[in-house]
Amino acid sequence: QMSQRVFSGVQPTGNLHLGNYLGAIKRFAEMQSGYDCIYCVVDMHAITVWQDPAELRRSIREVAAAFLAAGVDGEKNIVFNQSQVPQHAELAWVLNCVARLGWLNRMTQFKEKAGKDRENASVGLYAYPNLMAADILVYRATHVPVGEDQKQHLELARDIAQKFNNDFAASIAANGLAEKFFPQPEPLIAGPATRVMSLRDGAKKMSKSDPSDASRINLTDSADQIAAKIRKAKTDPLPLPDAVEELKARPEADNLVGIYAALSDADPAAVLGEFGGAQFSQFKQALVDLAVAKLAPINAEMQRLLADPAHVERVLGDGAARAEAIASETMNHVKDIVGF
Ligand code: ADP
Ligand code: NA
Repeated sequence: QMSQRVFSGVQPTGNLHLGNYLGAIKRFAEMQSGYDCIYCVVDMHAITVWQDPAELRRSIREVAAAFLAAGVDGEKNIVFNQSQVPQHAELAWVLNCVARLGWLNRMTQFKEKAGKDRENASVGLYAYPNLMAADILVYRATHVPVGEDQKQHLELARDIAQKFNNDFAASIAANGLAEKFFPQPEPLIAGPATRVMSLRDGAKKMSKSDPSDASRINLTDSADQIAAKIRKAKTDPLPLPDAVEELKARPEADNLVGIYAALSDADPAAVLGEFGGAQFSQFKQALVDLAVAKLAPINAEMQRLLADPAHVERVLGDGAARAEAIASETMNHVKDIVGF
């Protein structure tokens, strides 16, 4: 019986924000007590769009520092960057040959990221979900904590795992391996902040690439910056409702209440129990206090870690060696299965 293993990743593309924290990184730390966890800085995903090399290198360390600062233990878990474990790329090629063109054509994130000039998008941006499937399957991970935006990619990874198991069923058996060679990875998308929205536009997700810095709270923002952004966050003119159902028609209120709930480990109903009927000015002040109390220590620890790059590099190097030990075992089996 295989153990329950968690895999997840974050791209080193700058501007780590509150959505990355609440949708992913905060949960990475919470899962480490119950699972064998592998957390990856997915630098090979980052280069699907142009990255300045010096900036990329800095960003890799910053994401690793964010994992550690948020409470991920780099000794009990594996923390590393993707490019240092060659089996990700190796398995991705095999999976490129398993996934169907029609499956990738349905990926909505590619359409969003490629924009209008699709002919000029990199082939990597298009094939990215196959590499993501390889990231997960090379560790035969069973659980993947991610934000809502990754749901479709996880479904694809499940389809790829199943097709591989079916296409090679005879060879898997002939090699004496378990019928379900690749387990079906299960997305863990839970809690009130699986899709944190922009502070400027309730219809857009909070994103690293939004040109408006005021649209997101960066993990490296100062207390003053956090306060200013929350005070300026777009809202409607009504006081907060008493019932969560009333949030549905009020995206900005829904977002701020969700953020408050996630940061305080409460549910939105409990937050409205406290703030229902309050004006936004009052609620926003409470949110500023909460966000600063939760994020300032993480920011301070990130700065401390970034001032000591040797430590972060050591964690990444050690993590890569331990990751490769697992990944190479899977890849050796895959080669036998495929007939290499
Ligand atoms: P981004 O989408 O900001 O470029 P990544 O693709 O590196 O970031 O995603 C890292 C993790 O953060 C993923 O699990 C993703 O689902 C999660 N995530 C990204 N944006 C948000 C958001 N606005 N709300 C919740 N989770 C998010
Ligand atoms: Na990701």
